[in-house]
Amino acid sequence: MSINNKSTDKQLNKVKQVYSFWGRFPLFYMWQDYITFIGRPSFIRGLAIKQLNLRPGSKVLEVACGSGRNFSFIMEVIGRDGVLVGFDYSQEMLDAAQKLCQKKNWDNTKLIRGDAAELKAVKH
Ligand SMILES: C[S@@+](CC[C@H](N)C(=O)[O-])C[C@H]1O[C@@H](n2cnc3c(N)ncnc32)[C@H](O)[C@@H]1O
Repeated sequence: MSINNKSTDKQLNKVKQVYSFWGRFPLFYMWQDYITFIGRPSFIRGLAIKQLNLRPGSKVLEVACGSGRNFSFIMEVIGRDGVLVGFDYSQEMLDAAQKLCQKKNWDNTKLIRGDAAELKAVKH
């Protein structure tokens, strides 16, 4: 492994630690949303999801889903017949997303832990 790779690994570990921290405090993370989205997180997230042209029954993979802040906007469109898969490398974020799914009784969601850089395209 080269020196460059070692420093990249170190940086990546730091990033992972940051997300693990936020995943343990999803309520803080939610408030942080107001700063990121200049006080209008629901409006901006809703607008972004609208651009996807999802339909009832759509199957969605959200890569780097975090604590599931987009889930309610996606679920509102795809409904009970759709499928939502959340993918993230932070277990803490996925735990927060899992709690949200349970609270909302979304049984058509699945959460998977992994690194997006390792995802491979599969032909159907
Ligand atoms: C800023 S948060 C955004 C989360 C969510 N998409 C949202 O809108 O609230 C970024 C998320 O990406 C995840 N992430 C970053 N790089 C990743 C990678 N290579 N593979 C999987 N997840 C990753 C982090 O763990 C974190 O939960």
